[in-house]
Amino acid sequence: MKKAKAALLTSPKTFEIREFDIPEIGDDEMLVKVEACGVCGTDAHEYLRDPFGLCPVVLGHEGTGEIVAIGKNIKTDSAGLPVGLGDRIVTCIIPCGKCSVCKTMPERTNLCENCGIYGLFPDDDIHLNGYFSEYLVIRPNSTFFNVTGMSLDMRILVEPAAVAVHAVERAKKTGQLKFNTKVLVQGTGPIGLLVISVLRTLGIENIFAVDGNDSRLEIAKTLGAGNTYNFMKYESFDKLLQAVKSDTNGIGADFVFQCTGSAKAAENAWKFVKRGGGMCEVGFFMDGGPSTINHHFDICNKEIDLVGSWVYTPQDYPTTFDFLKRAVGIGLPVEKLVTHKFPLDKIGEALETNVAMSGIKVAVVNK
Ligand SMILES: NC(=O)c1ccc[n+]([C@@H]2O[C@H](COP(=O)([O-])OP(=O)(O)OC[C@H]3O[C@@H](n4cnc5c(N)ncnc54)[C@H](O)[C@@H]3O)[C@@H](O)[C@H]2O)c1
Ligand SMILES: [Zn+2]
Ligand SMILES: [Zn+2]
Repeated sequence: MKKAKAALLTSPKTFEIREFDIPEIGDDEMLVKVEACGVCGTDAHEYLRDPFGLCPVVLGHEGTGEIVAIGKNIKTDSAGLPVGLGDRIVTCIIPCGKCSVCKTMPERTNLCENCGIYGLFPDDDIHLNGYFSEYLVIRPNSTFFNVTGMSLDMRILVEPAAVAVHAVERAKKTGQLKFNTKVLVQGTGPIGLLVISVLRTLGIENIFAVDGNDSRLEIAKTLGAGNTYNFMKYESFDKLLQAVKSDTNGIGADFVFQCTGSAKAAENAWKFVKRGGGMCEVGFFMDGGPSTINHHFDICNKEIDLVGSWVYTPQDYPTTFDFLKRAVGIGLPVEKLVTHKFPLDKIGEALETNVAMSGIKVAVVNK
């Protein structure tokens, strides 16, 4: 039986490269030879502390690869496009199809109560469940998309870009986003930078970015942020707020995307929003603890339109492909967001690079 190497996180900060048997593929399954997978902040949390209690686990959910075996019942991807051997794919969520969300809100399967995603699966006897591996077994009822022809770096960006696309789609529901809207993005990690790119691709020109890292803010500028603020360089939050207000006609931003996992940042985000403005909270995939809201000043008196944003739906993936294509079309250097590549046996270094925030998107790449 052929074997595949996979990086098993056995306990916090400990990867073991193990060999597992590649199983026979069923009629509704596929075997994917992994080409690359981005490292996500969620992987870093799991690597450092195992908050999801998944260890031992094969992580890696921002991946892509080539179909090397395909069950006879699989003819098309989740958008209805034909797929076959040799095609490149990315996977999306695996909704259960049975819970009340799947049954009553089929357009919001991101909220499925038992939603699965490759790379955050509990270990089982197949083991090849995440993209930090040479092979991945795609199970029945998965959602996946044929991305043959897209560059490897673009394919690495699809999953985080889908998070950004979903956040902007949620924000659009408030009716606040127009060509001349002044949008502030707090946090310019991969998610915030991709949100900026989506906004710019939509034609929004007044983008304000806040972070504590100058090199990330420089990248924000290349993607369309006109004004950037390093919060570390201000004496106090009030001074930063004054600076933002003086650049927004004295009233604050029309709309804020909160793209950090910091409770303190979340507490501050409300202050940037003008009266009658809006906010999208996208930064808390992990529980970053409670933060203080003054319901009078922050919400009621400002009559804020608030939306939360939780991962993405399969419907967001085709939109994400369009976004990536258009971003390149208008000259945004999105591919440059992939800053580091490590082979699978250096996965520990890949995770440490992510934790140190010395790059933007760090990827693990197989030969
Ligand atoms: N909603 C979702 O479905 C979803 C999906 C993926 C990621 N996320 C979350 O989005 C957040 C961003 O993801 P990422 O990959 O870009 O993470 P990241 O950690 O690389 O980026 C966060 C950025 O926020 C900045 N920051 C920290 N404190 C700040 C403050 N007070 N003011 C301004 N900036 C500050 C940091 O310098 C960093 O550049 C994470 O917390 C992650 O959990 C959410
Ligand atoms: Zn991710
Ligand atoms: Zn469900």
